[in-house]
Amino acid sequence: ANYTGPLRPQVHYSPPKGFMNDPNGMFYLNGVFHLYYQYNPTGLGAGNQQRRLHVGEPADRAVPPEERQYVFSGSVVVDANNTSGFFPNQNNGVVAVFTLARYNADGSGGPQTQAIAYSHDEGYTFQYYDQNPVINSTSSHFRDPKVIRHGDAWAMVVAYAQEFAVGIFTSPDLKQWTWASNFTNHGLLGAQYECPNIVKMPVRDRDSGAVVDEKYVITLSAQPGAPLGGSVTQYFIGDFNGTHFSTVDAATRLTDFAKDNYAAQFFYGVEGNPISMGWASNWQYAQQVPTGNNEGWRSAMTLPRVSYLTKAPRIGWTMVDEIYDPEPILGDSLASKTDMGNGSVTVDYADVASGALYVEANVTGIDVAKATSFSTLNLTFASPASGEALRSGFYLGGDNPFFVDRGGLRGFDNVFFTDKFSVADVYYDGAADKSAAWRVQAVLDRSLYEVFVGGGRHAGTVLLYPSQPLTLLTVAARDLPPGAKVSVAVWALKSTWA
Ligand code: FRU
Repeated sequence: ANYTGPLRPQVHYSPPKGFMNDPNGMFYLNGVFHLYYQYNPTGLGAGNQQRRLHVGEPADRAVPPEERQYVFSGSVVVDANNTSGFFPNQNNGVVAVFTLARYNADGSGGPQTQAIAYSHDEGYTFQYYDQNPVINSTSSHFRDPKVIRHGDAWAMVVAYAQEFAVGIFTSPDLKQWTWASNFTNHGLLGAQYECPNIVKMPVRDRDSGAVVDEKYVITLSAQPGAPLGGSVTQYFIGDFNGTHFSTVDAATRLTDFAKDNYAAQFFYGVEGNPISMGWASNWQYAQQVPTGNNEGWRSAMTLPRVSYLTKAPRIGWTMVDEIYDPEPILGDSLASKTDMGNGSVTVDYADVASGALYVEANVTGIDVAKATSFSTLNLTFASPASGEALRSGFYLGGDNPFFVDRGGLRGFDNVFFTDKFSVADVYYDGAADKSAAWRVQAVLDRSLYEVFVGGGRHAGTVLLYPSQPLTLLTVAARDLPPGAKVSVAVWALKSTWA
């Protein structure tokens, strides 16, 4: 495949060609992370949905759609104890659980039912179960099953999309499913619920990192009708007993402060801190973004994200270890300043073949009483050739926001592609001396910008389409109060495709 296009992410997953949406069937087994996705191999918009395998060599369709039905989103489990009976002599049997979305001759939606397929070769090839569907329905809005192991049973969350309910089912064998309860009318509804997930997460002490408790998290995508437009993913924190989910509070929390992270799913089979990936796009413009016409592909996934719960409670996001590891992707150090004061660092990365960077900036010891409302730390990625720039940064004062502004880029003109995002309350609460501190970890990857702010307290995923490549990074601190200590480090990232 050709991954050389100027907008083609180099450390994020994107399909060789065609249109991709939701991540599907993610699991970890015997040292390999597996990812499938909603895929239209023959078009640059949604349609003809299949689930395609990405791991090692490109494989054929993982689960081929039959006539007049799409394979919609779903998940994968490892049936280590052969509960299904599909794997008499194996402890590495893999079962996919997904939605069959039928449609009528006139194109209108038919029933959506839940089906399974099994794999004897760790997910490279699948066979349909001959008695599908395993959950029948007459609804044309019943989809996206995510299955986890709970105690001695399997538990599924699945969306009754337009009834705004997450259905919870249980099964001894992945074939026979019993409805147990509904989690209904929570949070942002949009026009429909999609892609529910449920995952067990450790609650960690801020200072020691020790696990002090354990909760369940339901993530739930909704669209259209998100606060920022289009699609959004929210989450709820609570307890799960295998059949019922009850929230610890009435709050709806968002996984992302920008608008390009949807339909996230957690990997099955990851112990400890769960790892998720989302679709780095938004249904408002996913089918129009310029990578389609210019480069023949549309949509990338977010980086995998490690997550845990803070006592606050909320999700804390962490970069996967691989980002810090020279082996897979961390490249040359391009800048490193430990006490820059109210100064700046400029990095010309035109020669970095991947065009991708990892940036960390920290400001500690901020004396808030002496700050002015003009105290800032800015990260700006510019194209000297065209004068375009992606801007981001911190402001002190007011509600202490971090912002990202893609309005200075000219490669995509679309009324829904709004350009300014911000998140309030960004202090890093992990600072040892408990003084105010800023912390940002950012990956810029050609047409994708992912930032973790406040030590993972907030995450933002932002698509960007410059008309010329961005090649000049400036990190600048201004009007910070005396005593503030600024450190900046910038690395090149290596292409995963080269
Ligand atoms: C979410 C979604 C799912 C559905 C899939 C179809 O983006 O609409 O609800 O299963 O995409 O591709």
